[in-house]
Amino acid sequence: MRSLPIILFGVGGVGRALLRQIVEQRSFHALQYGLRLELLAVCDSDGAVIEPSDGLDDVLIDEIIAAKEAGRRLAQHPAGGVQNDLYGIVDIAGRAGTVVVDCTATDATVPALLFARDQHYKIVLANKKPLTIDQEVYDRLTSAGVTNGSGMGDNGEGLAPVRQLSHSRWETTVGAGLPVIVTLNRLVSSGDEVKRITGTFSGTLGFVMTGLQEGKPFSAIVREAHRLGYTEPDPRDDLGGVDVARKALILARGLGWQLDLANVEVQGLYPADMDGLTVAEFMDALPRLDDHFQAQVAEAASTGKVLRFAAQVEDGVCRVGPTLVYGESPLGRLSGTDNLVEFTTRWYNPNPLVVQGRGAGTDATAAGVLSDIIELAYTA
Ligand SMILES: NC(=O)c1ccc[n+]([C@@H]2O[C@H](COP(=O)([O-])OP(=O)(O)OC[C@H]3O[C@@H](n4cnc5c(N)ncnc54)[C@H](OP(=O)(O)O)[C@@H]3O)[C@@H](O)[C@H]2O)c1
Repeated sequence: MRSLPIILFGVGGVGRALLRQIVEQRSFHALQYGLRLELLAVCDSDGAVIEPSDGLDDVLIDEIIAAKEAGRRLAQHPAGGVQNDLYGIVDIAGRAGTVVVDCTATDATVPALLFARDQHYKIVLANKKPLTIDQEVYDRLTSAGVTNGSGMGDNGEGLAPVRQLSHSRWETTVGAGLPVIVTLNRLVSSGDEVKRITGTFSGTLGFVMTGLQEGKPFSAIVREAHRLGYTEPDPRDDLGGVDVARKALILARGLGWQLDLANVEVQGLYPADMDGLTVAEFMDALPRLDDHFQAQVAEAASTGKVLRFAAQVEDGVCRVGPTLVYGESPLGRLSGTDNLVEFTTRWYNPNPLVVQGRGAGTDATAAGVLSDIIELAYTA
């Protein structure tokens, strides 16, 4: 049986689902791949449980899941301790072949991830932040080396503009468990020319746009989404579009484009002057936007189009916001909370290659992370 050592950052919804699936799938992974996933360390924001020699046993893993579900901290766990340095955790617990898995939502993991790569460890990210800060960090984490021969590889040699996929996976950063990044990478590596990527990457904003198309007032839809828990506690975190912008940036960088989050043109669903309001004031002020959206939907319909909150990556420009699409296009036919991505390429033209399905959910996301981990087990 081959051991696959793992260090996990983040034991929130996705991290806990991942731990659960690792335990549930033990016999499958043993039978199918001759693999045992061995957890060397599990970390939350200020604590960790570490077992660098034998890995955490399944009873301890179940205890950790239960403790975190109950809102406790790993620093308080009998087998745990305080940690304020993920870099140190990787240094102490890591060994050859380790996969470092980032299921946090912070860029505080970046120094530890870069250190892991320097140690030739592999990394799996559900966390978008490390890939959407500096281009240099993206390049080092993904080993993209996209500088026409002037980029430097691990061994100091110049890299051709070829994606190196042997050390990193970040499939769940865009579209959760949907195979979006792998599809993009396959198109790029085949030499196909990706002319345009258009997609919806937010179930919440999909819910809002579907409601508008059904003729409901914007204010009523946002209030309903808020009440149902579909939005963040402050709905502006969804309506502002920055999370979608991060996903668009990851796709654009996947095409080899060199750009930053600041270069992504973002048009949110509310005006900047509503930023200063409290959440309650914001909710009360929503009806002032109803006429605007009603007019936009009517204007779209008059030309056979519908309004979607979409990301568009085309001609060197990355744009996120309300977008008019033909009602008969895959994106136009979409309704509800699914994510959908259209890749229009030299070979997929005029009909695009389409990936569609549930784009969120802790179990589907954790399954995507687990799949990334298993794939890396077999790379050199
Ligand atoms: N949920 C989804 O459907 C979904 C889908 C696709 C991608 N994702 C991405 O997956 C990631 C995790 O999502 P989630 O829903 O599991 O988030 P979450 O429930 O908020 O969990 C985040 C975890 O990260 C830990 N953390 C925060 N700062 C840390 C630090 N400096 N060092 C170590 N751990 C730290 C938190 O620790 P504490 O427990 O101490 O607070 C918590 O355990 C996010 O980046 C999210 O965008 C989620």
